[in-house]
Amino acid sequence: SSNIRLAVIPGDGIGTEVVAEGLKVLHATGVKVETTEYDLGAKRYHATGEVLPDEVLDELRGYDAILLGAVGDPSVPPGILERDLLLKLRFELDHYVNLRPVKLFPGVATPLGQARPEDIDMIVVREGTEGPYAGAGGVMRKGTPHEIATQESLNTAYGVERVVRYAFEKARQRPRKKLTLVHKTNVLTYAGDLWARTVERLKPEYPEVETDYCHVDAASMFFVTQPERFDVIVTDNLFGDILTDIGAAIAGGIGLAASGNINPSRTAPSMFEPVHGSAPDIAGQGKADPTATILSVAMLLDHLGLSEAAAAIEQAVADDLVERQGAWAARSTSQIGDDIAARVAG
Ligand code: NAD
Ligand code: IPM
Ligand code: MN
Repeated sequence: SSNIRLAVIPGDGIGTEVVAEGLKVLHATGVKVETTEYDLGAKRYHATGEVLPDEVLDELRGYDAILLGAVGDPSVPPGILERDLLLKLRFELDHYVNLRPVKLFPGVATPLGQARPEDIDMIVVREGTEGPYAGAGGVMRKGTPHEIATQESLNTAYGVERVVRYAFEKARQRPRKKLTLVHKTNVLTYAGDLWARTVERLKPEYPEVETDYCHVDAASMFFVTQPERFDVIVTDNLFGDILTDIGAAIAGGIGLAASGNINPSRTAPSMFEPVHGSAPDIAGQGKADPTATILSVAMLLDHLGLSEAAAAIEQAVADDLVERQGAWAARSTSQIGDDIAARVAG
């Protein structure tokens, strides 16, 4: 078969370290892939002032997929790289599904003590192009005691329907077939009402799917006390951001949490990245766990229809995680990548 054309954006901090391991494992699958690296991130911003030039964005549209490490650096004011690079990519490439599995692998320690892998096995379908991330905002009388800052949440019937529909489809394909809407309908009455009505309106089209609703504050509690309540969750962009860091924590840590920014209509490439950020506190020390990125590579392969290669990576990670118990902190970023790549290569 033909080569996969993959754009790689290592980004900042540990992004470069974990992406190197993701690519190492990708190559170990034997899948034919042609990679092109893009130096977007803090370095390019400092050198040229550019964050995401239009011609680079247009070039990125031509790839089969994008692998991203992380962006954000203490030397750059907050928001510049996050909004004008990462969120711009998600918006421009219409990544309306931010797919974030929360799955406890066998043998992995969880802060929830007695939880078993079957108790923590959900998929968070986080909306990716709207919500508070896309709403208008502004500031008046900045720096005065009378400052007013606004930050609206944008929710369209079109945007909510397409992500809710995707989540119903996902739920239908899973054994438990349960879909939970997580929102804050008791306070965010306009946006929450649109989300709740959308779920109710689509529900008759998916009679086999059981639906449920949970306020986001209670959902945060249930993630920790009763994670087995959840199968597929569909939620707003910001709620999904927060919930998936909690999800990462209960499923063994942020170093294991993978994600895909999916454009289900395939009008542009989807983009895969770990849930974590650039971790400036450990960058450059070989301490970052590359597993989240490696599992994101598996999601990427699955998205491109290479399910055997994806399954090989998942199995290699699962085996590595069983062996890690107790001793894993001793391995560097590249050692973990080497070990998983060796298992994949068989
Ligand atoms: P973070 O995820 O970078 O780090 C939070 C904590 O988790 C840190 O203690 C870090 O050392 C640890 N950690 C993260 N990934 C790890 C890994 N693979 N292995 C071991 N430990 C890991 O979040 P933060 O500190 O809030 O943000 C740092 C920067 O990253 C900010 O600029 C933020 O905007 C950015 N960020 C980017 C993304 C992204 O690119 N998708 C995601 C989150 C945060
Ligand atoms: C994530 C990150 C991003 C988000 C930031 C860096 C824009 O936290 O991917 O979870 O909020 O989506
Ligand atoms: Mn986040």
